Formats: sequence, C-alpha cells, structure tokens
Amino acid sequence: MKIQIDDKDFDLMLEYDQIKKRIRLIGIQLNVDFENRIPVFIGVLTGSFVFLGDLIKEITIASEVTFVKVKSYTGDQSGVITDEMAISMNLKDRDVIVVEDIVDTGKTLKYVLEKIKAQNPASLNVCTLLFKPNAVENEIEELTYVGFEIPNDFVVGYGLDYNGLGRNFKDIYKAVPKQR
Ligand code: IMP
Repeated sequence: MKIQIDDKDFDLMLEYDQIKKRIRLIGIQLNVDFENRIPVFIGVLTGSFVFLGDLIKEITIASEVTFVKVKSYTGDQSGVITDEMAISMNLKDRDVIVVEDIVDTGKTLKYVLEKIKAQNPASLNVCTLLFKPNAVENEIEELTYVGFEIPNDFVVGYGLDYNGLGRNFKDIYKAVPKQR
C-alpha cells in the first residue's frame, strides 16, 4: 500500500502486527531484566508516545512513566538542541529506560542521556523502536533494546511524522525517492 503526505510518497515498510510482535518480545525482556527494580520509562516526545503506549501495556512489573521534550534546530545545521519540556522527576538512584521512536544521527538521544546522567541514575538504558545504524554518528553504549534496524530511509507512521503529519498511521511507511 502507498500513502502520500504533502509532496512525498511513501511505501509500506512495517505492518502493525509485526511491530506488536516485536514489542511483545521487548516487553518480556524488560520484565525479566528489571524484575524487582521499579524502573522509570522516559518517553522522548513527540514521536515516542505511540510506541511507549503499546510497550507499557506489555510491562507487568511495577514501573513509572514520564516524558521529556527537546527541540532541535535542524534547519540551520547548527545541531543545537534545547529543552522544551524538562524531566520533572528526581532520577537519582533510579533505573531509567529512555524510550525513543527512532535513533537517526543519535544527537537528540545524546543530549537527553547527558541530562539524565547528570542526575546520577542507578542504571541507564535506551529502548528504541527503530534504529538507523548507518546514520548514527557515535556509538551509544546505552542502546540496549532495539525494535528494528532500518536503512537510512525517511519513515513515517506509528508516531513518526513528516512536517507534523502521519503520526496517526498504524503501520510504518518509508519515503519513495523522487523520480527525476
Ligand atoms: P537524531 O538524528 O537521532 O537526533 O533524530 C532526531 C529526531 O528526528 C528523532 O527523534 C525523530 O523525531 C526525527 N527523525 C529522525 N529520522 C526520522 C525519520 O526517518 N522519520 C521521522 N522522523 C525522524
């Protein structure tokens, strides 16, 4: 199936059934790894809200959820990232699991991880639905839970947007390169 958002065409890449199956497995792994620990899941807004919504339903151990929102200035290539909504919880001695929709260059994640590390958590791990290994600029040692490794395609759906649109699609779609 194909969809169109603004000027871009997209092809189906991952169906919701496949995503759900993967999330179920990640959930099982998290339940084992954090048994008796009461971890804090921190969703990185906006894109992660759909993934975290499904993931948290697979978590059977006691846990807490909060969010952080950052703003990146990509247009001017400066790579500057600032807080749009800071973390409101005390994370000292907590087991923190950062939940991302996608890790592309890894710049956003690096910024979020530094902020959390400054609070001295007991442990820090990242759970991302999608990971672009060929785009990431530096190795992220906290990247423990990865849903799917994908090529450097631009993707939308399941929380991910193109110009603010497309977050509502259940499946994930990849951009079709423009024909010349
Ligand atoms: P970073 O390059 O890893 O810092 O990614 C920054 C942010 O860009 C991610 O959290 C997403 O919100 C967004 N992003 C990166 N790649 C894609 C994509 O393929 N589709 C939609 N958003 C993306």
